[in-house]
Amino acid sequence: MAKDGEKGDWKEFLWNPRTREFLGRTASSWGLIFAFYLVFYIFLAGLFALTMYVMLQTLDDHKPTWQDRLSTPGLVIRPKADETFEITYNIQNTESWDLYTQALEKFLTPYNESVQIQKNEECVADQYFVQEDSNDVKNNPKRSCQFNRTILGMCSGIHDRNYGYDLGKPCIIIKLNRVIGMLPGKNGQAPYVTCGAKRYKVGKDEWREDSDKIGELEYYPPNGTFNLMYYPYYGKKAQVNYSQPLVAVKFQNITLNQDVNVECKINANNIPTGSERDKFAGRVSFKLRINSND
Ligand SMILES: *[C@@H]1O[C@H](CO)[C@@H](O)[C@H](O)[C@H]1NC(C)=O
Ligand SMILES: *[C@@H]1O[C@H](CO)[C@@H](O)[C@H](O)[C@H]1NC(C)=O
Ligand SMILES: *[C@@H]1O[C@H](CO)[C@@H](O)[C@H](O)[C@H]1NC(C)=O
Ligand SMILES: *[C@@H]1O[C@H](CO)[C@@H](O)[C@H](O)[C@H]1NC(C)=O
Ligand SMILES: *[C@@H]1O[C@H](CO)[C@@H](O)[C@H](O)[C@H]1NC(C)=O
Repeated sequence: MAKDGEKGDWKEFLWNPRTREFLGRTASSWGLIFAFYLVFYIFLAGLFALTMYVMLQTLDDHKPTWQDRLSTPGLVIRPKADETFEITYNIQNTESWDLYTQALEKFLTPYNESVQIQKNEECVADQYFVQEDSNDVKNNPKRSCQFNRTILGMCSGIHDRNYGYDLGKPCIIIKLNRVIGMLPGKNGQAPYVTCGAKRYKVGKDEWREDSDKIGELEYYPPNGTFNLMYYPYYGKKAQVNYSQPLVAVKFQNITLNQDVNVECKINANNIPTGSERDKFAGRVSFKLRINSND
């Protein structure tokens, strides 16, 4: 009996024909509630839009208002090693290194002379290519300097289509992440890359490095420099055709059939490497293992 009563209450609550109430409220009461929330949400949406509008007004299309790591850009290598930063292959097994050389070829295609001549201009080397805006007059779009792949010599893929991989003398290409407005180097000296054996931990308080296995390195362009003319960078929108400068490192006599831990870093007295704040700033490390059946 009690159950039936409850059921009846429930039904009545849903729709009460006597008072014409739906869920305990009359139509006009519901109408008022909907009207209230409608106005309320329109007001919220309006407030949101207004805030967004005001915020967007303060942004410059061509320059981020905030950016971190201004002074500590990272280095990146190509061919892209997997998550473990390992480049492993067997000299006699073409398929094991073909992927690497294909990746390099693809990466360097935008650096073809024909492309560069079309997009970019010849700049005066060894000095910053400054194109500042004069107050409110925007100096856009900004021009960019040519970086021909020929600069990479034996690592350009022009003289050696295999980038040395078939001879156990692989090329690795290094680029410095873009940082808007950065003026690397100091006193007219260009920043340059150096690579060496990486110190790594093998046990508690026990370190090792493969300096005896890394062999002779050759840098392209000579001394591994990023020419000053490629800086400052003004951002994707202002400098549409920007080509990041590259440095190639060729491992001329690396020990085969063994892991070799390498670390490359940028040398510029205004780019701190491995600072307290960011251990990986301005440096990149990876493992090379080149196997040979001979
Ligand atoms: C770039 O140059 C390479 C070698 O010179 C050539 O094979 C390739 O087709 C070129 N790519 C473009 C887009 O011109
Ligand atoms: C960018 O490159 C295109 C050709 O790809 C060229 O027409 C344009 O003028 C270049 N823009 C600048 C700012 O250099
Ligand atoms: C790129 O190559 C073209 C054609 O060989 C040359 O005129 C130009 O000076 C080169 N640019 C640079 C920056 O080396
Ligand atoms: C490379 O560095 C050495 C020593 O710092 C310098 O004498 C030489 O001129 C540099 N070469 C180039 C091409 O910058
Ligand atoms: C290559 O390295 C080996 C040691 O790993 C050394 O004995 C040899 O002399 C080096 N060759 C050249 C040309 O530097």
